[in-house]
Amino acid sequence: MRVPFLRMKEIGKRFPGVQALQDVTFDAFQGEAIALLGANGAGKSTLMNVLGGIISPDEGVIQINGKTINIKTPKDASEIGIAFVHQEMALLPTMTVMDNMFISDYPVSMKIKINRAIMRKQCSEVLDLLGCRISPENYIRDLGTGDRQMVEIGRALLGQNKIFIFDEPTSSLSKREKLNLVRVIQKLKDEGMTVIYITHFLNEVYEICERVSVLRSGQVVGGGTIEEVQMINLVRLMVGEVKIEDRGTERITSVDNPIMEVSSLTRKGVYKDINFTLHKGEILGFWGLLGSGRTEVARGVVGLDPVDSVKMKISKNGELQPATPDTVRRQIGMVTEERRVDGLFLPMSVKRNMSMANLNNLIKKNSSVIDKSKENLLCDEFVDRLNIQISDKEQIVETLSGGNQQKVILGRWLEVNPSILIMDEPTRGLDVSAKAEIARIIVRIAKEGTSIILISSEIDEMMSLCDRFLVFNKGKIIADLAYGVSEDKLVGLAAGADEVIQEGDNE
Ligand SMILES: Nc1ncnc2c1ncn2[C@@H]1O[C@H](COP(=O)(O)OP(=O)(O)OP(=O)(O)O)[C@@H](O)[C@H]1O
Ligand SMILES: [Mg+2]
Repeated sequence: MRVPFLRMKEIGKRFPGVQALQDVTFDAFQGEAIALLGANGAGKSTLMNVLGGIISPDEGVIQINGKTINIKTPKDASEIGIAFVHQEMALLPTMTVMDNMFISDYPVSMKIKINRAIMRKQCSEVLDLLGCRISPENYIRDLGTGDRQMVEIGRALLGQNKIFIFDEPTSSLSKREKLNLVRVIQKLKDEGMTVIYITHFLNEVYEICERVSVLRSGQVVGGGTIEEVQMINLVRLMVGEVKIEDRGTERITSVDNPIMEVSSLTRKGVYKDINFTLHKGEILGFWGLLGSGRTEVARGVVGLDPVDSVKMKISKNGELQPATPDTVRRQIGMVTEERRVDGLFLPMSVKRNMSMANLNNLIKKNSSVIDKSKENLLCDEFVDRLNIQISDKEQIVETLSGGNQQKVILGRWLEVNPSILIMDEPTRGLDVSAKAEIARIIVRIAKEGTSIILISSEIDEMMSLCDRFLVFNKGKIIADLAYGVSEDKLVGLAAGADEVIQEGDNE
């Protein structure tokens, strides 16, 4: 039998309250991409953190070409040639793209001076290879999520690496960026590199990988070549049966019951003269490419970013009335795209993170004390409804798996039950069954009267959930289309049709 290039042998890792990995053996060969799959919390990132020297295992060894090696720190891993693109981005916002790319390994000339010319050149080459249009001199803080993810990927491509770990690399990438990444991975394989690829998008597995390995609750439950493992099998291995929500053609078309009216919303240089109305119980999709303005407009509406002008009305007792910042705060919830930056309080407990938006309701009457039993009860309810995997409510959010962190943010806003809920990529990083569960919840709360603005890069998700679509392009709304519009049309418009289309002439 072929000796695998990399073998992680009988790895075990326990955290307080959970056996994250148990007796996991994972092999990877040169010139192949292997998918590491599993539901949220299955142990994928933990296994790769062991390989990357970020955590040390309780049991097991790592071998390269049959020889046991010692990986105790990230530096050990990088010296062996292991490059790690993390699930959660770890870039320094106030530094440039090239500084971030070289931060752990600045090229020096004559042993003392950082050679910025070399940095700039190598950085440009990598950005070109990735088909990325940003400059090495751009500051990270000025980049959108997709570009930031490309910088992370770029960083891994620098240097002499042999094993590339991609932990959900495409969750914030546009279609074009994804294609570029697929091309780059193919190139790495052709050059004999080993690629380990973690994703919740199964179609990517079939596109990119030769083999798969599936984890469930910290144990290997199956795997093989992609020919051997059919997609349906993979889903079953990972999560058991999944019931997908099908809304059918049932949609809200009523324009009778406006709940919010936004007009003349402008932020210079970002978006201009945005006007739209949201109706009661409606699921309104903001559709467009990354950088088209869909997220920025949502952030402007809730006051997360400053705006240059806006007129907003929100319904009170059935009538639209000018909104004050206080009404906006009370009535609109927002699940943000970047959970680690503006969503979660990482060093705090699951329970407190969940209560954070709901403190007004949790404080006992005539006092300033939180009603602990009410807080516990609500937290339990949403942990249960969203099937969030925690060891207990006091667990620090930072130690949850990526997907479970996302569910905590969702739980926070569902607990408040605001009349308007803006959800920006609510299912990013969630496994197939969690995605289906979130879709069910979205449909249900809309039925109960919550108005939802949904932003998602997944066209399938948008098509199956939205009543209406606003198409964004270059900071403007270029179309307002009712359910029934074709997928092709939406995709085409987002990609660059310039004409303004009104509802009704969507043929
Ligand atoms: N530092 C830590 N302290 C305590 N528990 C941890 C820590 N890191 C991970 N865990 C737990 O280990 C389990 C596996 O987590 P891991 O992040 O590996 O999951 P994952 O498969 O990457 O999931 P996802 O798809 O959601 O990213 C989870 O139950 C998680 O809460
Ligand atoms: Mg993970």
